Amino acid sequence: MMAVIETLETIAAVRAWRASGGWRTVGLVPTMGYLHEGHLALVAEARATCEKVVASIFVNPAQFDREEDLAAYPVDLEQDKRLLAKAGCDALFLPTPATMYPEGFDTWVEPGAVAAEQEGRHRPGHFRGVATVVLKLLNIVQPSHAFFGQKDAQQLAVIRAFVRDLDVATAIVPVATQREADGLARSSRNVRLSPAERQAATVLYRGLRAAEDAFRSGEGRAAALAHAVHAVLDAEPRAQTEYVSVADPDTLRELDTVETRALVSLAVWIGKTRLIDNLILDASEQARDGA
Ligand code: PAF
Repeated sequence: MMAVIETLETIAAVRAWRASGGWRTVGLVPTMGYLHEGHLALVAEARATCEKVVASIFVNPAQFDREEDLAAYPVDLEQDKRLLAKAGCDALFLPTPATMYPEGFDTWVEPGAVAAEQEGRHRPGHFRGVATVVLKLLNIVQPSHAFFGQKDAQQLAVIRAFVRDLDVATAIVPVATQREADGLARSSRNVRLSPAERQAATVLYRGLRAAEDAFRSGEGRAAALAHAVHAVLDAEPRAQTEYVSVADPDTLRELDTVETRALVSLAVWIGKTRLIDNLILDASEQARDGA
């Protein structure tokens, strides 16, 4: 018989669930739904680490800088519940906007310099929305561990920074970017791509790999590494590059020279869909995905 996931719709229900067992470790997998292999890798990591695993699905209006992006965000709750149950998730927190942002809500987490460039520069208010909702989820669920994908490398750095600065007692666990066979990073937004755009979208990872190749050949100048990425992106007529960044993976400060490690990240429009991706360059090991 199909497993059915326990769905918790209120904060009180989550607190009661949390108090019902004497679990030492509880893993939280925060999501905005429309789950794919990337999310399921987070659940698998949580399952391997913790006694109990709870996922959340909440399309957080506070982190969308464009109305049309929020309106077009894909939803398939029944499929999500099936996937979570199959992946061995124990419970699902499914709050409404009114639960998360009740009348009179007026307190925000404002991330610092780590959120200023890259995504932060191009999506004003985005990380304030992310940091606020993630802190609320951590406070509601009180997990021992929370799992985030390295595909959103700056989000991960922002969360690590506020967890450190605000003394949150949850271990933040990064999970490697999941990719399609042709390298495209898995994302809920990929469904918006037409077949031709889907083909063109492989340019993101090819661009990142060009930086990796240049780095392996001894290139350490950030401008030259970014140039290698741009050369690949510029050759794809369907791609409109928003930014290419070569930055410190922890502080997200732009680098002049890569001494040891760097996060190469980019945002590219393919038609009406904005995609992001990143790769870590590490002089002490091979380049690898994410932060
Ligand atoms: O990465 C996401 O899906 C979202 O930004 C998160 C962490 C669930 C917060 O809304």
